[in-house]
Amino acid sequence: MKKKIKPRTEVHIGDLVLKNPILTASGTFGYGLEFEPFFDLDRLGGIVVKGLSLKPRYGNPPPRTCETASGMLNAVGLENIGVDAFIEEKLPLLKEYSCAIIANIFGEHVEEYEKITRRLCDAGGVSAIEVNVSCPNTDAGGMHFGIDPEITARVTRSVREASTVPVIVKLSPNVTDIKVIARAAEAAGADALSLVNTFVGMAVDACSRKPILANRCGGLSGPAIKPLALWLVYQVVNSVRIPVIGMGGISSIHDVLEFLIVGARAIQVGTANFIEPSISGRLVDELEKYLLDSGIPDVNSVIGSLIAA
Ligand SMILES: Cc1cc2nc3c(=O)[nH]c(=O)nc-3n(C[C@H](O)[C@H](O)[C@H](O)COP(=O)(O)O)c2cc1C
Repeated sequence: MKKKIKPRTEVHIGDLVLKNPILTASGTFGYGLEFEPFFDLDRLGGIVVKGLSLKPRYGNPPPRTCETASGMLNAVGLENIGVDAFIEEKLPLLKEYSCAIIANIFGEHVEEYEKITRRLCDAGGVSAIEVNVSCPNTDAGGMHFGIDPEITARVTRSVREASTVPVIVKLSPNVTDIKVIARAAEAAGADALSLVNTFVGMAVDACSRKPILANRCGGLSGPAIKPLALWLVYQVVNSVRIPVIGMGGISSIHDVLEFLIVGARAIQVGTANFIEPSISGRLVDELEKYLLDSGIPDVNSVIGSLIAA
């Protein structure tokens, strides 16, 4: 019997080399270390850590998450330990892993993004910076930056200048035309784009007639957003030259393949981590099996292989 050769799964996001295209999405995988008991994190292409700010943040008051019929609403409000504690407590442990470690960052001012970037790059051990200009649950910064092409460009430029590692700009779906923001980030020096962050939504308790989230609105993620996210990724892939990382509702190997086929060079798994903590490792195995069973020697031949209708 002919011996099957292990397919190639390595993908390149500019200078960032990933052993496979499966990453975990920021805010849904903690600082990565919390998931050590569930599977070998080294199997992943990379871990995108919880969004980091200059100073620690408590986030929004509870209730701040809520389940809906086909997705999850969250208004966590970017709770995190701050960049210095991350560098001191988490990064030395994360550095032990051979997968890419991507730091997701956000600030209330352009200067904050720049300062966080410098601290992370000076510390070493971070493979790329993902710039969140797209969080819908905070008053200042976050999505307020990402819905304006000029501010997106300003943030991107300042992080790019401060960074010694690839810069990925994470886009918001809550805009009229995502292509305009994508092009602005590209022109300002982004090495790659990632999308989508969550869609702004609301849930109401019909008995009490009150919003379920203390913040009133939150970000919708999970299966409900997958077709929306896929369409946005498709449009952005066809509007820029830099690599695109796709996410939104991915919870099966078919979901992964859909994003790769429309042209995403890597994907991130988000809300599904809450349902099945080992899912990202399982998807790495399933991608390898899919390539092997289909006789596809290199995952890169799947990327952007969409056939016109
Ligand atoms: C509880 C929660 C916290 C999140 N925190 C962040 C964050 O800190 N930074 C960020 O860029 N995105 C954050 N996100 C957005 C996810 O990274 C991802 O873009 C989004 O959930 C869509 O993917 P999914 O449908 O697979 O979850 C968060 C999402 C959830 C559900």
